[in-house]
Amino acid sequence: MTLLLTAKGLHKTYKGRAVLGDASVNLRSGEFVAILGASGSGKTTLFRCLTRLVEPDAGTIIFEGRELVGLRSHALAKARRRMGVVFQQFNLVRRLSAMENVLVGRLAEAPLWRVMLRHFGDDDLRRAAAALSAVGLADHLHQRADTLSGGQQQRVAIARALAQESRVLLADEPVASLDPETAAAILSLLRDLTHTAGLGVLCTLHQPHLVERFADRVLTMEGGRVTSLSDA
Ligand SMILES: Nc1ncnc2c1ncn2[C@@H]1O[C@H](COP(=O)(O)OP(=O)(O)OP(=O)(O)O)[C@@H](O)[C@H]1O
Ligand SMILES: [Mg+2]
Repeated sequence: MTLLLTAKGLHKTYKGRAVLGDASVNLRSGEFVAILGASGSGKTTLFRCLTRLVEPDAGTIIFEGRELVGLRSHALAKARRRMGVVFQQFNLVRRLSAMENVLVGRLAEAPLWRVMLRHFGDDDLRRAAAALSAVGLADHLHQRADTLSGGQQQRVAIARALAQESRVLLADEPVASLDPETAAAILSLLRDLTHTAGLGVLCTLHQPHLVERFADRVLTMEGGRVTSLSDA
């Protein structure tokens, strides 16, 4: 399996308190890796560092063979597009349709007015529709995001990441707001995408039984470090 993402020796300190202390993680194409860890152990901070939303104090992040630490605006935006993020709160634009939310991802570097004025190319439209079909929403393309169920909204968020051709998906508690059945369906979708589309998924979860059922590999975070629990 191709190595997509390697973070080594990440450190992050807030006001003299170390949140990440020598955190390292690898992610390969085709694997679903779960991260477990107590609240406050640094999981979200690790994700923020991996996308450089937060600047690590030290460490290296190699994504698709390129060092991300130190990359500037344009190159960083380009790399970020290939790293999809999925959150507990879905983060959709409520008044836009499923299609438009996915297109916002496609037009990551274009201004929002292009989305609002529906200035999309045929290729963008095709890819957005294909991504929504891939997550089982072919019948909801034009439904407003705020009228979709929680599980459907999370599918839109995943489709948005797919449509922007992400190679890596960082999912921070993607099923924490969902009922158990919907949670299992979303994790099963993510796992299928790793195996069929060759994505690498790094996913924080709080429920050990879901981790056991879906993850190819399990990591745990403790005291700002990442430890491997199991290897596939
Ligand atoms: N911007 C910040 N300023 C100060 N402290 C911060 C900041 N961001 C995070 N922290 C602290 O860093 C620690 C780790 O937070 P983080 O959100 O990464 O934890 P987590 O493992 O994601 O927890 P949870 O499971 O509750 O989501 C916490 O103690 C938090 O208060
Ligand atoms: Mg968190």
